[in-house]
Amino acid sequence: MRLTGWVAVVILAQSFINPALGELPEATMLAYTCAGCHGTNGSSVGPASPSIAGISREYFIESMHAYQTGNRPATIMQRIANGYSAAEIERMADFFSRQTIMRPRQTHDVEKADFGRRLHKKYCELCHEDGGRYPEDDAGVLAGQWETYLRYTLQDFLSGQREMDKKMEQRLDQLQADHGEQALEALIQYYISEQ
Ligand code: HEC
Ligand code: HEC
Repeated sequence: MRLTGWVAVVILAQSFINPALGELPEATMLAYTCAGCHGTNGSSVGPASPSIAGISREYFIESMHAYQTGNRPATIMQRIANGYSAAEIERMADFFSRQTIMRPRQTHDVEKADFGRRLHKKYCELCHEDGGRYPEDDAGVLAGQWETYLRYTLQDFLSGQREMDKKMEQRLDQLQADHGEQALEALIQYYISEQ
């Protein structure tokens, strides 16, 4: 009698604990592998690895798949992304989208950043809302992103190595036609200035 009672208690306890605990440690454990480059819980300490804390779920999943297929250029992420199944990627997407980004203080040119803020409003805000902070626009974190990463990734877009939305391409062309090369620099200064 006493033994059956024990077994019942254990089974009952497991059925309560498992569904809850079964998910969390796995997500944290998966995410732990990324911490060396993307920082604890996705807030990178730079310079070439972007912060992925607070990233949109959809954009995270899309990015990982694009790395796997080679659709998105990568120095390192293709090899890393290839190590994960679709289910694991979804789990990590849940995890990183729930984290809060810690924006680093980066040295920036205040005047250029101010010009960049105005350029952003006119050319980029449509899809990178709230100065590039709003995750639900599914377009990556711009506000408080690392300078080196922003430079590389903009180069990838402009050289055609990384595919972009047709409308974003038009806006980038228009931006450069209207304001020249200094415009991109101003935008970078604006994004890194954001706290
Ligand atoms: C050795 C360093 C390193 C590790 C480890 C690493 N990453 Fe990355 N990650 C990068 C770099 C660098 C980039 C920029 C693309 C590139 O050059 O490969 C990047 C880009 C990304 C992006 C794109 C973010 C954006 O804003 O578009 C995502 C998402 C990402 N990594 C997720 C992960 C996940 C999830 C893991 C762990 C499973 C991970 N990374 C492990 C270095 C790393
Ligand atoms: C029509 C919508 C649209 C407009 C306008 C737009 N973007 Fe984007 N942007 C996107 C989308 C969508 C992505 C995600 C691309 C992907 O899926 O790889 C993106 C991604 C980016 C990224 C990469 C983020 C990352 O984490 O790697 C940068 C940088 C960027 N945009 C800069 C700009 C700038 C600067 C402007 C203004 C000149 C701009 N965008 C205008 C839609 C837009």
